[in-house]
Amino acid sequence: MKSSFLMDWVYTDTVKDHFMNPRNIWDKNEDWEPDAVGEVGSLACGDQMRVGIRVKDGKIESLRWLTYGCASAIASTSMMSEIATGMTLEEAYKITPEVITNALGGLPEHKFHCSVLGDKALRAAIDNYLEERGLPNPYKDAIARVLCECRGVTDQMIEELVRTDKAKTIEELRELTGFGTGCGKCVHMITEFFEEMRHIHGKS
Ligand code: FES
Repeated sequence: MKSSFLMDWVYTDTVKDHFMNPRNIWDKNEDWEPDAVGEVGSLACGDQMRVGIRVKDGKIESLRWLTYGCASAIASTSMMSEIATGMTLEEAYKITPEVITNALGGLPEHKFHCSVLGDKALRAAIDNYLEERGLPNPYKDAIARVLCECRGVTDQMIEELVRTDKAKTIEELRELTGFGTGCGKCVHMITEFFEEMRHIHGKS
């Protein structure tokens, strides 16, 4: 009789391959220094993700990553590292979880959230790279999605307020942005998104 582990193994061959043979893992013994690092998640939740990038001529020359996440997070970040290497910073910034998941041939529905960690850490690394060099960051606003139409509140605004600890509670977020004070239809979605961002940035 098969073990429950094997019976529960519902991942595609590509996911299994990237999980068993992850690409571009950050080996501290390797002589490799990043130009910038991005980190999301928290050790307490067991899903911390760190991505380092080296940039040459505006492109990601090489990328390394480390995670304490699950099989899906490992496979997703491994795939992301292959997709992002060689891309311009702008192209890499626009990699979405959907792009990674499709390249993996899909992930179980309940595992989809694991795939956001790698691309978020990559964006954090690009943010840091630009910030440390005093360069403009036009990419953040370009990928922003409006979540509250009445007050023009975007996902990027909320994420930044969470990341910088300016909004530690949903009430603080409402005070700072005014979300939900128009028609109110965004309240549920933004509350869920806020909690997700707190989790991803290790604030809860
Ligand atoms: S969409 Fe947010 S209050 Fe109307």
